Amino acid sequence: MLPKKMEEALNGQLNAELYSAYLYMSMAAYFESINLAGFANWMKIQVQEEMFHAQKFFNYINERSGRVIMRAIEKPETDWETTSDVFEHTYKHEQKVTSLINDLVELSRSEKDNATYNFLQWFVSEQVEEEASVDAVLQKLKLIGDFGPGIFMIDQELGNRVFTPPAAVTGV
Ligand SMILES: [Fe+2]
Ligand SMILES: [Fe+2]
Repeated sequence: MLPKKMEEALNGQLNAELYSAYLYMSMAAYFESINLAGFANWMKIQVQEEMFHAQKFFNYINERSGRVIMRAIEKPETDWETTSDVFEHTYKHEQKVTSLINDLVELSRSEKDNATYNFLQWFVSEQVEEEASVDAVLQKLKLIGDFGPGIFMIDQELGNRVFTPPAAVTGV
């Protein structure tokens, strides 16, 4: 059985993952509106990743005989000035999520909930990847600034991103 405090916090994280998906879908819509289909594709893959994260929390809470409670999802921003603003925002958001995961790890320690501590380790590693993949795009965008042909090239590149569900989490 999940400690009550832990159950509450995991439900909070489920909501945060759904918010992330919602935010990235809003960014995908922004990119579609300025005809950057590759950037939009990158964000749509990001949405799938976040939905996958949400599913993992959903399943884990149930597996531990906790109760999943769906909450309202906050309205995300809808407009940005430039492509790098979007990725700057994404990078900051992922850093915030990393700190949320770290808080959950701390709570699992103080609650002596080893099962949840183990479960969260996957997310600790996942956040390293999340921050790195966003930063890789952000650094390129900073290099090219608003140079049109550069944006065009990156759009082609981001159009190739595909969603690959991590192998280590089959059965989720
Ligand atoms: Fe996530
Ligand atoms: Fe993420």
